[in-house]
Amino acid sequence: LILVLDFGAQYSKLIARRVRECNVYSEVLPYNVSVDRIKELNPKGIIFSGGPASVYVEDAPYVDEEIFELGVPIFGICYGMQIMCHTLPGGKVERAESREYGRAMMNVKNKMDIFTDLGEELECWMSHGDRVTQVPKGFEIIGYTENSPAAAVGNQDKGFYGVQFHPEVVHTPRGTEIINNFLYNVCKCQGDWTTTNYIEETVAEIKERVGDAQVICGLSGGVDSSVAAALVHKAIGDQLTCIFVDHGLLRKDEGQEVEETFTKEFDMNLVYVNAQERFLSKLAGVADPEEKRKIIGNEFIRLFEEEATKVGNAKYLVQGTIYSDVIESGGSEGASTIKSHHNVGGLPEDMEFKLIEPLRELFKDEVREVGSELGLPDEIVWRQPFPGPGLGIRVLGEVTEDKLEILKEADYIYRDEIKKAGLGREIWQYFAVLPPMRSVGVMGDGRTYCYTIGLRAVKSKDAMTADWARIPYEVLEKISTRITNEVPQVNRVVYDITSKPPATIEWE
Ligand code: XMP
Repeated sequence: LILVLDFGAQYSKLIARRVRECNVYSEVLPYNVSVDRIKELNPKGIIFSGGPASVYVEDAPYVDEEIFELGVPIFGICYGMQIMCHTLPGGKVERAESREYGRAMMNVKNKMDIFTDLGEELECWMSHGDRVTQVPKGFEIIGYTENSPAAAVGNQDKGFYGVQFHPEVVHTPRGTEIINNFLYNVCKCQGDWTTTNYIEETVAEIKERVGDAQVICGLSGGVDSSVAAALVHKAIGDQLTCIFVDHGLLRKDEGQEVEETFTKEFDMNLVYVNAQERFLSKLAGVADPEEKRKIIGNEFIRLFEEEATKVGNAKYLVQGTIYSDVIESGGSEGASTIKSHHNVGGLPEDMEFKLIEPLRELFKDEVREVGSELGLPDEIVWRQPFPGPGLGIRVLGEVTEDKLEILKEADYIYRDEIKKAGLGREIWQYFAVLPPMRSVGVMGDGRTYCYTIGLRAVKSKDAMTADWARIPYEVLEKISTRITNEVPQVNRVVYDITSKPPATIEWE
């Protein structure tokens, strides 16, 4: 284990990600985690992340000096290097006359273990206002740039290193090699973290924990819940029952695809709840987006609850929580017994489950890797985010069966063409919407008065903000032609060129 201590950096998750790319398991913890906890975790090395503070401001994140006595190598990045030099005797950090931001060339003065095989000059990416003006006792300056006389420092005997730049970002082209040197030359890691090992270990843990108890899983067909289900199934087979609620608001073929994958290929116990009519009748006559969402959400919970009680005596509930969910919610450890309604959104008070969250330690791309390795098809592993209320909020206004059909067809064509153009993995989300309006067109010799389809495609990192995707005109043309040719009720196709903000990704 390599521990990344987070000093408030934008990049701490990225550091952990880079470490895992070097086949070493890594976790992020807050900078003020106790030394006792660190001892318990027994890491092979510790990385201090960067952070926005200056070591001199009041309440600046600090380190417990005892960390330096553990005999564990430490690599400080940016603020991490400054706090190390500030804390250790003899070191000094001062405000630099000018901030250094962006690309810089660093001259390597002494390679020590950290810069082995990396040449004399390294391109690196800087972002700092303070700088180290005096290195702590036992340290040497091992790299400098025009603006930073101490851009890299090291104490080879202790395995302590610090760099002023950010090796974890892509703008430091050989950054991963630097991290790799820290892991293998300095910390002597073994490099046995792979998704294959992860699957084996997790399967063994789940088996042991569950014994012969029954387990249920709410399967949405999304990446996370699908991979979690497949992993738990590998561990306990028939003791797992998945509940899949088909509210009729799924994309074309989606319900079947999920059912087939899990029942045929995985031979899983799957309760397929066909609730299309139930949802549609509840939605009849309702045009307000929020009201639609509420109806769909409530109905979903009620159905899940009905089905869950039928699975006799289930003690565990599988959830597809992934590492980013854990970090973002403050990383609460040990929240294993909960009343399930906090998570599933409304199960009865007296139904208590213990949670199984087998993906809790994985990043999204690792989740995908695990999914592929477990044999899930690309259609599931590379699925784009899909909102719980599904097409219910993409048929704008009142939802009817006819409109759902039109939207499903148009959306299917859109997805098909994006896939053929090879754009699927670089666009965050792409989907069609059906506004409640018609317009005039001409087809053959006749006037038409038909629906418009809106195409939405965005690029995003976290769905909080998004930019509209620049899909090539030729691809858009093909999509438009196919939709107007193949979906008779549509005579017009428009492309949404608004970002978020001011728009949202979905139209409702
Ligand atoms: P907006 O439209 O708010 O969407 O920009 C941001 C992201 O969230 C998804 N989304 C939902 N996901 N239940 C979900 O599970 C919902 O009710 C819901 N509404 C929006 C949306 O697809 C986008 O990825």
